[in-house]
Amino acid sequence: MLPIAVLVSGSGSNLQAILDAAAADPEFGAEVAVVISDRPTIKALSRAEAAGIPSVVVDWSEYEDRDAFSAAVCDVAEDRGAEALVLAGFMRILAPVAIDRFPNRIINTHPALLPAFPGAHAIPQALEHGVTVTGLTIHFVDELVDNGPIILQEPVPVLDGDDAGSLQVRIQAEEHRLYPEVVKALAHGKLRVHGRRVLWEGGRP
Ligand code: GRF
Repeated sequence: MLPIAVLVSGSGSNLQAILDAAAADPEFGAEVAVVISDRPTIKALSRAEAAGIPSVVVDWSEYEDRDAFSAAVCDVAEDRGAEALVLAGFMRILAPVAIDRFPNRIINTHPALLPAFPGAHAIPQALEHGVTVTGLTIHFVDELVDNGPIILQEPVPVLDGDDAGSLQVRIQAEEHRLYPEVVKALAHGKLRVHGRRVLWEGGRP
């Protein structure tokens, strides 16, 4: 069983999808050891509590810099026995110290087809740019923002009349389906990183 820390900053719907998959699938292979938030009083923390999962707030505003914050996040994860970090709507960039401590053991989901539209405003930027297809990317985290080896991508069409809200709903529906699959694959040791490419042992979902 792979113990994981899920890092959150907001509503936690991807956290919920992972918790639901872990509860429903006896073969899931990962268990949420701790939920870590960079801020207090967010919905994700209530979701953790409802599921009986311990949570810890590592308040970004209390740390001097990104290095100190990232080290504190890693300390909490390690203290709770987590062997991988799963970023689920986590709005902070982890410093290289975290990548060093969890090499190829940090994953993130991003609401665009990287390398298009990295950063915090991927969905409005896709609309502004007029793309007809966007989607999501689940990737390993490296030292750069939204840059690490791509584990999985899923296209989502942009429809006439879409706004940021409607497009986000459709992207998140795919994230909720696919992120637990990736966590499961990670837990089963099925993701092999070769340079920038990730090979799935036994095929992708
Ligand atoms: C997700 O859509 C993810 O792509 C982005 O932030 C969103 C988080 O949503 N990084 P939630 O907190 O999991 O509901």
